[in-house]
Amino acid sequence: MEQYVMKGGTPLIGSVNISGAKNAALAIVAAAVMSDEDVYITNLPDVNDIHVMLEAIKEIGAKVVRPDRHSAIINGSTIDNLVVDYEFIKKIRASYYLLGSLLGKYKQAEVALPGGCDIGARPMDLHTKGFKALGATVDEGYGLISAKADRLVGTHIYLDKVSVGATINIMMAAVMAEGRTSIENAAKEPHVVDVANFLNSMGAEIKGAGTDLIRINGVDHLHGTEYSVIPDQIEAGTFMYAAAATHGEITVMNVIPKHLEATTAKLLEAGCRIAEGDDLVTVSAKDIELQPTQVTTLPYPGFPTDMQPQMTVVLGLANGVSTVTESIFENRFKYVAELNRMGAKVKVESNIAIITGVDHYTGARVDAPDLRAGAALVIAGLAADGLTTVDDIKYIQRGYEDFTEKLRGVGASIEKVDDERALKKFVFQVS
Ligand code: EPZ
Repeated sequence: MEQYVMKGGTPLIGSVNISGAKNAALAIVAAAVMSDEDVYITNLPDVNDIHVMLEAIKEIGAKVVRPDRHSAIINGSTIDNLVVDYEFIKKIRASYYLLGSLLGKYKQAEVALPGGCDIGARPMDLHTKGFKALGATVDEGYGLISAKADRLVGTHIYLDKVSVGATINIMMAAVMAEGRTSIENAAKEPHVVDVANFLNSMGAEIKGAGTDLIRINGVDHLHGTEYSVIPDQIEAGTFMYAAAATHGEITVMNVIPKHLEATTAKLLEAGCRIAEGDDLVTVSAKDIELQPTQVTTLPYPGFPTDMQPQMTVVLGLANGVSTVTESIFENRFKYVAELNRMGAKVKVESNIAIITGVDHYTGARVDAPDLRAGAALVIAGLAADGLTTVDDIKYIQRGYEDFTEKLRGVGASIEKVDDERALKKFVFQVS
């Protein structure tokens, strides 16, 4: 089984190029099939989730050409199947974006019902509420969810909870509906805005993305386009927090600093120094003592839930007691038990982690329960004394392009190994 093995204790210093945003790219690939002309997407992250989504649209008949690992030319004119196979939803929940895009274009779609995952139940009730409001019949049963409509007619939709997925899925279902749709209490994440900008570049008429009221004028046709995906603010944040935890200095390049405001603000509260450029942010934690603080995850522009594990790892090394409150997902502290095996002192009560800072972590063999927790445990291993191995790295590879290469680029002693021999070789080399 593939593992990451690392030797901690070295401050990470240098700069790292940030890839395209996974959570924008997944929805953009799904939306690209809504045109019958060539859609040329660049700055795609080369991560497993994107590979799976591209496979899923090929499977239903779309043409996909890959000029290079960061781009794709998609043409939806040859789609001949509106049922997305279970294997894709099993691999990535975001395949459910094909429900919105195929329903919006063909007035019909069926995907397997995504199960829960490690961080929570993750229901789809708001997605289906939107589809039904637009006039679709939605059936759930036998592990499938199907939507069908004679006509999709614009309407007002109020989202009871702020949901990134539901906002994006309903937006796609509404862009070719008849008349006007408004989505109230919409998610404002940068990737929601990116998907709206992408659809508008195809001829959609969407206004207000990035606010809590998105207004859509249905159009009959979406034409081809060329579009570049925004940078990944969670990948950027992950490297910024690695600098903090290892008392290093890292510059994340090709970012949009505005998307990182909450992530950066918490590093400032923790005592780090921050310098911002037009498309870069430098985090320095050299010779500083990390300070405790309080964090609550919230929908954008609040502190992102996808940075919650990385925040806990940094505060676990602060000089005092901090709290991290997870308000988005009901089960996103599973990694804490693994972090405590590395010497952290974190107690979870309901949805609050109470973190008593320690002087240092100690290396251990740990397990990655999900994507962001896995990345956070790697950060802990790079800060720890001694050797750490992280198992189950398939989660991490879903969302981080060239993770070990980028970390080695800022001085980390880390390798991906796939057997005992390779593990022993790394241990020998670093001893
Ligand atoms: C997206 O998930 C991201 N995934 C998640 O990132 C991210 O954590 C999340 O948004 C929040 O920012 C992708 O974009 C592929 P939500 P999504 O709908 O859309 C509840 C990562 O690490 N809800 O905004 O599924 C839900 O249970 C992943 O990259 C309903 O109740 O998240 C949650 O409590 C992890 N009913 C809250 O809303 C619904 O119909 C927010 O979920 C939908 C959601």
